[in-house]
Amino acid sequence: MSGKQQLREIYVKGSVKMIDEMTTVLEPSALPDFVETSYVKDLTGRALYYIEAGFPVHLRGPSGTGKTTLAMHLASKLGRPVVMIHGDEEFTTSDLVGGEHGYRVRKVVDRFISRVLKTEEDMVKRWVDNRLTVACKYGFTLVYDEFTRSRPEANNILLSILQEKMMDLPVARDGEEPYLKVHPNFTAIFTSNPEEYAGVHRSQDALRDRMIAMDLDYFDYETEVAVTEAKSKLSKPHVQTIVNIVRGLRESGKCEFAPTIRGCIMIAKTLKVRKLTPYKANNMFMQMCQDILASETSRVGSKTNQDKVKQIVRELVIKELGIGETANSIDKTGEDDFTKTDSQNIIEQENKQKEKSLIEV
Ligand SMILES: Nc1ncnc2c1ncn2[C@@H]1O[C@H](COP(=O)(O)OP(=O)(O)OP(=O)(O)O)[C@@H](O)[C@H]1O
Ligand SMILES: [Mg+2]
Repeated sequence: MSGKQQLREIYVKGSVKMIDEMTTVLEPSALPDFVETSYVKDLTGRALYYIEAGFPVHLRGPSGTGKTTLAMHLASKLGRPVVMIHGDEEFTTSDLVGGEHGYRVRKVVDRFISRVLKTEEDMVKRWVDNRLTVACKYGFTLVYDEFTRSRPEANNILLSILQEKMMDLPVARDGEEPYLKVHPNFTAIFTSNPEEYAGVHRSQDALRDRMIAMDLDYFDYETEVAVTEAKSKLSKPHVQTIVNIVRGLRESGKCEFAPTIRGCIMIAKTLKVRKLTPYKANNMFMQMCQDILASETSRVGSKTNQDKVKQIVRELVIKELGIGETANSIDKTGEDDFTKTDSQNIIEQENKQKEKSLIEV
């Protein structure tokens, strides 16, 4: 058996199914740290209505708007095993459906005459189902993440699956029927980034017409704070400071790419690991925000762009730490252990030096 090929036991409603395929099936389980604010609950509820009515759902939106996480959450709610596919420019239909990837070795041992041992070996080409076929056959939930990264001709196979609930397979499948009836429990959840993103194909009209698209935007304030808090374990007032800065930069409209919640999580996690807070890290917090947000919002890292973003971030940090609402309500002693950063020591030393030279004058 090849490394990728796995013999799996799938537990479906109490029964055990052995699936000998080149595929990986995920158990439908709740995601760790999943946050359910009213925004998330509303989206989940609506998507589940459509799925229960028998329609595939397509979560569409810019990077970092929670599409993949929500798709996996929906899949876990359905309680069926999950197969996941990530869209890929290089995909062909056979990457989705399957092909003659394997060989079956047959060995015949003839012991008719006890003193003579006759063996016969031959290798038979063997059809191996890929993820899409497995999901259709056994009624699993398919999460096709970023499906518009695959070329439209590779995705054509989905048209009849979604509409006629039939899968048109190559004839070569070990003598099996060329048509596979899609299992009634089969469900498909798609995600995609907007069509102007690099490496993305326009989704075909026919395919788009067979799904219900839900457009996701950046999270609302409550969700952005709750997700960052859950992912970083930094306390809420500090997280609010970070989220205010990131949202301020996003709303400035001056970035090549708007900063996402990933920026919030990166800053918050770095602070948490260093046992710092925005106030206690002082100069280091400013640098951290500038580094992370300038890197997140530009593709090629052009100097002018970076400088522009860094300047906006600088103003936002000063505002947040100085006169912002959160800044005033926050407990500035903080709960995290404080170790002075090198930059603070440098600033303090410089100040002492200045005082000393003033006295000497
Ligand atoms: N409801 C949620 N609970 C907890 N974490 C979440 C939730 N939604 C999103 N996240 C976190 O936010 C980040 C971005 O989410 P996700 O990767 O799902 O976005 P995406 O829209 O798929 O982005 P991309 O288009 O770049 O793939 C991830 O770190 C994810 O773990
Ligand atoms: Mg994603």
